[in-house]
Amino acid sequence: RENSTVSITVVGASGDLAKKKIFPALFALYYEDCLPEHFTIFGYARSKMTDAELRSMVSRTLTCRIDKRENCSEKMEQFLGRCFYHSGQYDSEENFAELDKKLKEHESGRLSNRLFYLSIPPNIFMDAVKCASKSASSSNGWTRVIVEKPFGQDSESSAALTQGLKQYLVEDQIFRIDHYLGKELVENLSVLRFSNLVFEPLWSRQYIRNVQLIFSEDFGTEGRGGYFDNYGIIRDIMQNHLLQILALFAMETPVSLDAEDIRNEKVKVLRSMKPLQLEDIVIGQYKSHTKGGITYPAYTDDMTVPRDSRTPTFAAAALFVDNARWDGVPFLMKAGKALHTRRTEIRVQFRHVPGNLYRSFGTDLDRATNELVIRVQPDEAIYLKINNKIPGLGMRLDRSHLNLLYATRYSKEIPDAYERLLLDAIEGERRLFIRSDELEAAWALFTPLLKELEEKSISPELYPYGSRGPVGAHYLAAKYKVQWGDLSSEHYKI
Ligand code: BG6
Repeated sequence: RENSTVSITVVGASGDLAKKKIFPALFALYYEDCLPEHFTIFGYARSKMTDAELRSMVSRTLTCRIDKRENCSEKMEQFLGRCFYHSGQYDSEENFAELDKKLKEHESGRLSNRLFYLSIPPNIFMDAVKCASKSASSSNGWTRVIVEKPFGQDSESSAALTQGLKQYLVEDQIFRIDHYLGKELVENLSVLRFSNLVFEPLWSRQYIRNVQLIFSEDFGTEGRGGYFDNYGIIRDIMQNHLLQILALFAMETPVSLDAEDIRNEKVKVLRSMKPLQLEDIVIGQYKSHTKGGITYPAYTDDMTVPRDSRTPTFAAAALFVDNARWDGVPFLMKAGKALHTRRTEIRVQFRHVPGNLYRSFGTDLDRATNELVIRVQPDEAIYLKINNKIPGLGMRLDRSHLNLLYATRYSKEIPDAYERLLLDAIEGERRLFIRSDELEAAWALFTPLLKELEEKSISPELYPYGSRGPVGAHYLAAKYKVQWGDLSSEHYKI
């Protein structure tokens, strides 16, 4: 609106996330004219810095998209001109009051809306929330706070954090980010399912044999070992990113696209799930590996990681949704660092065709069922594996793909998840943020297992850096008569 302004304060402005994601996303939004007319960006952190120094730091992180080179440097200058810096302690109400004063000057009497992005470690989190809300809340507009995981380490610590936040903020003001929800193909999951007649009727135990949620990275925890060692892959990836995808995948049809309707369904499906059992998980940790004359480090080679750490860098798990739609269908999750490839995908393996007329016309076709693959990243794609006749006079069948490769179909570059999420937070759209009851339900599924792993000091299976992970993952899948789809040869052709 004409007479309103938005002030965005990045608390922890010199941190990695701010530099890699938040400032570039804000600039991309500015470039696309998505930010309100009147806006100001403030960096807030402990180190002393001038506005000019902040601008020079931010400018090093900004890039222009390939399809958006026009006027880019001009736009960058304009954007940087709207960025300012305030140095302060995270636990000082006084320092936040100084920030408030500066914000007011920029708001010049307009209706003021304020967004705080807390990009800081969990131990100073509550202090910053307290000080920002007490000393720098808007007096006449909205005040919203974006928070990043970790949201605690288990049910108890997460509940304490939620309670702490609620001392200073109401639920509507809290925007908990899970950046996977801002990824294009994760958002598209509901579109695919609910706006195509061919998918939704098949979306149940009647036709789906298993669902696989796979996350792999081809690099280790280099440089982040200190953080990672306190969390491990189950908390870092499974309890949030993969579980969120699972909830969207498995939820019932929401009443509408309204944030509360969607989140109600997600909570319902999470609460229908059985807590993860020890016999349904395999954990691994990467060890050093030499290939082509290069030695890749073990997880425990990281100086910030204890030599005897048992923290998993890989996990595979089988989860079950105990409701009428999904009874007995394994949802297999696999997440790992330092594997052979970087890829995130959702794989839906369908049941066998009953009484398949063509089972004798191809090698292994009876076992090769339809599979729908949603490749979240990289090279975004959706493809469906089908059995098809090989052209010719004879009757031979093979496996083919109906393939929607985004790069070929859409010429536009895909926005980063943080762009969408920041824009939604500014617009007050809560659909892609995690509500506190969702978080509670998510922790309830993993907490007993995490405790058991720690109490029993279970050792992870070691796997070489750059490999496909521990063999235990195959046994886990085999227990449910499943094969991991990402390991079939088709995977590498597409
Ligand atoms: C973060 C995890 O949430 O997601 C990291 O803490 C991980 O360990 C990252 O590397 C992956 O995000 P993306 O968007 O690069 O797939």
